[in-house]
Amino acid sequence: MPSLRELYKQSVGQTSEYSLCLEVDRAEGCYIYTTDGKAYIDFNSGISVSSLGHCNPVIQQAITSQASKHLHTMVYGEHVQESQVRLAELLTQQLDPSLSVVYYLLTGSEAIETAMKLARKATGRAEIIAARLSYHGSTLGAESLRSDLGYKMHFAPVIPGVKHVTFNEVNDLQKITHKTACVIIEPVQAERGVYPPTDDYLSKVEAKCRETGALFILDEIQTGFGRTGHLFAHQKYGVTPDVMCIGKAMGGGLPLSAVVSSPALISSLVKYPALGHITTFGGHPLSCAAAYASLQYLQSSGVVDTVSAKSQALHSAISAHPIVKEVRRSGMLMAVEVTKRKYLKYVVSQAMELGVIVDYFLFNDRSFRLAPPLVIDDETLKLGIDRLLAALDYAQGKYQ
Ligand SMILES: Cc1ncc(COP(=O)(O)O)c(C=O)c1O
Repeated sequence: MPSLRELYKQSVGQTSEYSLCLEVDRAEGCYIYTTDGKAYIDFNSGISVSSLGHCNPVIQQAITSQASKHLHTMVYGEHVQESQVRLAELLTQQLDPSLSVVYYLLTGSEAIETAMKLARKATGRAEIIAARLSYHGSTLGAESLRSDLGYKMHFAPVIPGVKHVTFNEVNDLQKITHKTACVIIEPVQAERGVYPPTDDYLSKVEAKCRETGALFILDEIQTGFGRTGHLFAHQKYGVTPDVMCIGKAMGGGLPLSAVVSSPALISSLVKYPALGHITTFGGHPLSCAAAYASLQYLQSSGVVDTVSAKSQALHSAISAHPIVKEVRRSGMLMAVEVTKRKYLKYVVSQAMELGVIVDYFLFNDRSFRLAPPLVIDDETLKLGIDRLLAALDYAQGKYQ
């Protein structure tokens, strides 16, 4: 009889040769429990998804209650479903009044696709500007925003009309002109290895967009829902996008994303052509119920206000280690850069061995990712830090 792991390798499609292959039994709070009886502290939150911990009872309750009423009844946008409406109401109450309409989708990539379509349709312009070393998703449109030609060429031709600027490089903003449909940018560059914006960079991007009529689109898929210590990162950095893309933590562990914008912009997808975007499962009632409970919890628990102190605690404990060169962070979205590239794989694998999950970034081979659940308590945080320091010691010892 093949084991579950063998069957997984045979029949579950992979795009990586280096799957972690953790055989998950259950997950609760900040822990993932595997079938071999090990307990791992999740210092990644499933890449910034499980911000309120795994199987948060408040979210579980909302899912159970919605599941007993109804699941899918019709493709998105045809039926009035209470969970969608309540969530849109609660979410937009947290935002600038200009961001008053939520168009629901399923994944982050789909939100980016929709934002790109929306920008072209609303402005009648083709050019899209993105930042180098950004990741916006894996669909062909979202991949067209990548700056990495070596990757993109394997899927060529990608969509034309994409130009790049260097993040935090103000002089590059002159590339934004009256030909530009939109600038799509992360408020904090996550997959580059957590690069927050310097000074008033985002305000300058916003101003250039206003000057030229290009739409200012923020990808808050990884930074949203409290990750940076504010509900949304743009609130932290004092800007207001024309369009905000959200996903990941939004659904409290269920798949859900959205494009949030003004009534005028969202309605540009209604006519000429009609049905400018269609999604079967966008705004799934189960996901919206979980997202509503999750957002209510974020607000009522005060957990977002704890992010700054937890981030500082992690930073202080880890930055002093001799093989740590730099810790970059925005709230609990953090990158730890090691002094030599060769240390990285030992830190990550030994951390796993010691029972704390950390991970790599897509575009940074010197740093590892820390994004613990925002609800992590002091004791678990300390235990995770101790294990991580032991993993750093181990990596250091490999080259002495
Ligand atoms: C900043 C950012 N944008 C978009 C995406 C794509 O989201 P999804 O994987 O849900 O399609 C990701 C995923 O990691 C992301 O980090």
